[in-house]
Amino acid sequence: MTQPKKLYIKTYGCQMNVYDSERMAEALGASGYVPTDAPEDADMILLNTCHIREKAAEKVYSELGRLKGLKAGNPDLKIGVAGCVAQAEGEEILRRQPLVDLVVGPQSYHRLPELEARARSGAKALDTDFPEEDKFDRLGARPKAQRGPTAFLTVQEGCDKFCAFCVVPYTRGAEVSRPAARILDEARALVDRGVAEITLLGQNVNAYHGVGPDGADWGLARLIRELARIEGLERLRYTTSHPNDMEDDLIAAHGDCPELMPYLHLPVQSGSDRILKAMNRKHTAEEYLRLIDRIRAARPDILLSGDFIVGFPGETDADFEDTMSLVRTVGYGQCYSFKYSPRPGTPAAEHDQLPEDVKSERLARLQALLNAQQEAAQQAMVGRTVGVLFEKPGRMPGQLVGKSDHLQAVHVNAPAELMGRIAPVRIVKAAPNSLGGELA
Ligand code: 5AD
Ligand code: SF4
Repeated sequence: MTQPKKLYIKTYGCQMNVYDSERMAEALGASGYVPTDAPEDADMILLNTCHIREKAAEKVYSELGRLKGLKAGNPDLKIGVAGCVAQAEGEEILRRQPLVDLVVGPQSYHRLPELEARARSGAKALDTDFPEEDKFDRLGARPKAQRGPTAFLTVQEGCDKFCAFCVVPYTRGAEVSRPAARILDEARALVDRGVAEITLLGQNVNAYHGVGPDGADWGLARLIRELARIEGLERLRYTTSHPNDMEDDLIAAHGDCPELMPYLHLPVQSGSDRILKAMNRKHTAEEYLRLIDRIRAARPDILLSGDFIVGFPGETDADFEDTMSLVRTVGYGQCYSFKYSPRPGTPAAEHDQLPEDVKSERLARLQALLNAQQEAAQQAMVGRTVGVLFEKPGRMPGQLVGKSDHLQAVHVNAPAELMGRIAPVRIVKAAPNSLGGELA
């Protein structure tokens, strides 16, 4: 028997990359690879890269530079670049960094075994095509081993929205939805392996429109309702969404589908109509607020999350105050906020940029407000009893850590048998990023 080869994958960026890394590891499993956490032991190192924010490509080149020593010590080590930087840079990576053996774009992971064989033979391997077929289908069935209670499942990829700041439509291509039958099969297989909570992923997941097993067009709500019928699948979530794709039946599902958890990440980016228009978001601040009202009418206890960009080209003090005012009106439970950074090839990168100190000052003010809202949302949980899905042991002996229905981390003294199960927990204390509770 030959020794298994070892694979080390470093994952950057979003949850879709986390899912892709899992699937890449499984694909290379067929070529005799087993995962390792130690890059120095690896026969293959894959960087699964992200291109969403500042100097992404430069960071990858410097990370590759740091791998030089490992490659010198082990000439058989193969180094690959996957993900959105691979897609955006393509052959340039092979030109600029000769130690790279393999470059694979996010739509070509099913070809990894071939590409790996080519790299092993000493040639350079490159694939950044956008093939027509469902790459996940081409990757085949997933391994049968038991796994943790939560999983990601990509249902949709790409984006047709072309927000003026964003590279995703260029790196991930046009919106493609996987057929519902494949998603249902994959979900059943995950549940058979111990999964109780699935987060459906897509760059623009609520734009999901896939072909159903009945041949009809299924939106995300229909897909969620069918998934919810799977015995043992207790919780569903989805991320990330665009306000304009929040269809009526999806809002309704938040009210009447108990498996759909009361948490929604619905980025608005700015509270100024002028900036929203310049960003090509195609809705106003008021339309977003009315949408939030409708979602809250369907599910009053929903915890809202979002993304904000400050310092977009042309943003005035008044525009920024509109963002602050929208945040005060909504009251978020948790948010991500960023300084605008120009992405080459996107429309907004062509415009005059705001001074760095203006961006920094606005970001600090926005984050202070968002942090205060997050703390208030955490504090509001004290005294309430919520479902917690236990995922792992806590730092203290006898403790387990899990996630509440609202996606907050909760520490509880609980027997190990509860691992992978959901139990009601009374929240007794709150910190900014975690809660403490007692079994109810
Ligand atoms: N600059 C700053 N933030 C950005 N995002 C996307 N592109 C940029 C950019 N050029 C943020 C958006 C998006 C999140 C994933 O990243 O807020 O929702
Ligand atoms: Fe990027 Fe999201 Fe806009 Fe699509 S909807 S272009 S992924 S920010």
